[in-house]
Amino acid sequence: MIIPMGQADKILILGARGNLGGQLMRVLGNNYRLICWDHEDLDITNRNEVNKKIYEVKPNIIINTAAYNAVDKCEEVPEEYQKAKLLNGDAVGFIADAALSVNSLFIHYSTDYVFAGDKQTGYAEKDEPHPISKYGETKLLGERELELRARNSLKYYLIRTSKLFGPKGESDMAKPNFFDIMLKKSETVDRLDIVNEEVSAFTYTFDLACATKELIEAKHKFGIYHITNNGVYTWFEAAQELFKLLKKDIILNPIASANYPRPAKRPVFSILLNTKLKPQRKFIEALRDYVELL
Ligand SMILES: NC(=O)c1ccc[n+]([C@@H]2O[C@H](COP(=O)([O-])OP(=O)(O)OC[C@H]3O[C@@H](n4cnc5c(N)ncnc54)[C@H](OP(=O)(O)O)[C@@H]3O)[C@@H](O)[C@H]2O)c1
Repeated sequence: MIIPMGQADKILILGARGNLGGQLMRVLGNNYRLICWDHEDLDITNRNEVNKKIYEVKPNIIINTAAYNAVDKCEEVPEEYQKAKLLNGDAVGFIADAALSVNSLFIHYSTDYVFAGDKQTGYAEKDEPHPISKYGETKLLGERELELRARNSLKYYLIRTSKLFGPKGESDMAKPNFFDIMLKKSETVDRLDIVNEEVSAFTYTFDLACATKELIEAKHKFGIYHITNNGVYTWFEAAQELFKLLKKDIILNPIASANYPRPAKRPVFSILLNTKLKPQRKFIEALRDYVELL
């Protein structure tokens, strides 16, 4: 059935100039009426503005990709932690309330960093989170805000994902991904020390955007979903795959996390088990697509 554009669902994307936001615009643009807002259009930490502006546009679906993602800064600087709590925690509640008021479906993203990382077999959607970093705590606050409104009949999908990579979003502040950082470093050195720990799955933002579309269209049950590409890797193993694909000669040296100290603790094993949806394609296929774009 072809739905005329005028009758297609109206989707509001928040954080549209970010990395995932950009891919959602690309994937959803042809089939839906999109309203794409970023920081300058709506500061999601302003409760009144969130209510007012969402009420004005009355979207059928709200997708929130806006987030505070500076994991180490948040750990070290108390003011940054407060900012992160507001953006990753309280603001999710503001949007959820606005979604309830206009009866929108609310889609929000969380992270593997809500888990402690002590379960080698991986974490299922129903497993109890125990973050070990302040950033993880703030993302869990957002999850709790959602769950609170779910008891009030909020229609929602909470998607946990990990290690995003893909084309950079339009915003200058959009976080550079791990592979871009490795490539940049490899321009000036012929040997890279890379952490060979922190086992989890990488996720191509284009694939995550497609999976989000599928979740909407297949009308899956509301709740928590784990979406990552298929296959588990350390940072070192993933970098090996990158340089193999690029056929670039470089010495990669595996190191322990302890030899690359960072302010925030990272989970050692944070594999997100997907027990509800069909598996995503393999990480290596997604990385090949990304490398072709570079
Ligand atoms: N990156 C990862 O590896 C990773 C891993 C697991 C989960 N996630 C989650 O996946 C989601 C998407 O992440 P991403 O990497 O695509 O994020 P991103 O590129 O950092 O984009 C975030 C966007 O949010 C906007 N924003 C910041 N503060 C805002 C505010 N107060 N009001 C409105 N917009 C604001 C930013 O705009 P400005 O730049 O203009 O401030 C930016 O465009 C997030 O929920 C993130 O926590 C990410």
